[in-house]
Amino acid sequence: MPRKQICKVMNIAIFASGSGSNCENIIRYFRTSERIHVVLVVSNRPDAYALERARRLGVPTAVVPKGELNTPEGIMPLLKKHDTDCIVLAGFLPMIPDFLIDAYPQKIVNIHPALLPRYGGKGMWGHHVHEAVKAAGDTETGISIHYVTPVCDSGEMIAQFSTPISPDDTPETIAMKVHELEMAHFPQVLEQLWSD
Ligand code: GAR
Repeated sequence: MPRKQICKVMNIAIFASGSGSNCENIIRYFRTSERIHVVLVVSNRPDAYALERARRLGVPTAVVPKGELNTPEGIMPLLKKHDTDCIVLAGFLPMIPDFLIDAYPQKIVNIHPALLPRYGGKGMWGHHVHEAVKAAGDTETGISIHYVTPVCDSGEMIAQFSTPISPDDTPETIAMKVHELEMAHFPQVLEQLWSD
C-alpha cells in the first residue's frame, strides 16, 4: 500500500506598503496551491493599494501602523490568529522589529529591487534605487530575494536575477525591467524555498 505523504502547509502573511503588484502576483500564483496559502495581507498604510488588491482576491487584510508593528501585542495576535508560518515583505518600508525576527527565524523574506549589496540600506527603496543605478551608469541591475535580519537589506541571499541596462535606459525603464524580473521569479523562489 502506498504510504500517505504528510506535507506541511505553509501559511504566508504578505506585508506591503504600496501598490502591491508583487503582493497580487504572489496571491494569484498560490491560489491553486495545496501546500502554500496566502492567509493575510498587512500594510502599515490604510491607503496602500496592496490592500485593495488583496480584498478583491478574497484575502484577509489588516492595517498595522508602524507604532503597533513595533510592539508584540500589536502584531503577534494577528499573525497567530491567521496561523502564520512565514512572512513575505513585498515593498514593505518599515523595519521589522527584532522580536518578530526572533519569532520567525529564517521565515521572513524580503525582495529588493537591485543587486545587493549594492543600492541597499536606509532610504534605498523603489525609485530611489533605480535613480541611483542610472546615476552610477551601471550596465546591469536586478532583484535580490533574501532573509530579513535586524540590519536593513543584509540578510542571507536566497536568489538574485539580473537584467542588462543600456545607456538609453531611464530610471523608469529600469524600474520596468526590474518589475518584469519580480513578476517572473518571486513566487517561484518562495515556492522552491518552502516546498520541501
Ligand atoms: C518592488 O519593486 C520591491 O522590490 C520594492 O518595492 C516595490 C514594490 O512594488 N521594495 C523595496 O524597494 C524595498 N527596499 P509593488 O508594491 O508594486 O509590489
